Amino acid sequence: MRRILVAGNWKMNGSKTSIGHLLGGIVSGLAQVSDVDVLVCPPFPYLAQVQGLLVGTNVALGAQNASEHPPGAFTGEVAVEMLTDFGCEYVIVGHSERRALYGETDAQVAHKFETVQSAGLTPILCLGETLEERESGVTETVVARQLDAVLERVGVKAIADAVVAYEPVWAIGTGRTASPDQAQAVHAFIRARVAGHDTQVAQALRILYGGSVKGGNAQELFGKQDIDGGLIGGASLQADDFLAICHAAH
Ligand code: 13P
Repeated sequence: MRRILVAGNWKMNGSKTSIGHLLGGIVSGLAQVSDVDVLVCPPFPYLAQVQGLLVGTNVALGAQNASEHPPGAFTGEVAVEMLTDFGCEYVIVGHSERRALYGETDAQVAHKFETVQSAGLTPILCLGETLEERESGVTETVVARQLDAVLERVGVKAIADAVVAYEPVWAIGTGRTASPDQAQAVHAFIRARVAGHDTQVAQALRILYGGSVKGGNAQELFGKQDIDGGLIGGASLQADDFLAICHAAH
């Protein structure tokens, strides 16, 4: 049985004040929820603040990105050792915004995945097609290529200690959610592709859906056989919206 995971990706949003309010609301609203794993991924400068606010709660801490390199002369980058220093347990790897806006390649994402995992952190590997790719019927080809780059680098056993997030680019921040059936179809495809290497790893793998998840659509999405939770952007920035999603999972 896979536990549902609800992860908030705050992207480049927040301030010391707003984060204090947001987390206060989330933590108190989650006191009764024990059967769902919850995680927040703040921007780097707020990791210390969030780490402090999460002590003694059932909410885990993650980062939105990490360098594939060890500490050294990489101006502007953040090493995985720094993330563990601040109590991070998860790192989002290969988010479509990183791929599209910062040119992260499949090979670089696979390298980041390996670096994150070797520091004892859990990678959340994001996969997903653009609208153009979906409309030209190559969704599975794209998702398979992104997944295979990681499988080839680290092997299927490494996937056992990771999380995958399917995030169709056309559904991110657009209000246009993939239908539960559309999402389920790609999740089943991803699981089957992992099963081609190792069926046990595939059965245990948590595959999150991301892209305009809200309180109103979460329950139907999470009810699908191969959808094991969500990676939430916009709706993770308001405590009530995020809690509605966590409660839908519960
Ligand atoms: P939205 O929930 O704002 O569509 O963002 C999804 C996402 O990109 C999470 O990583």
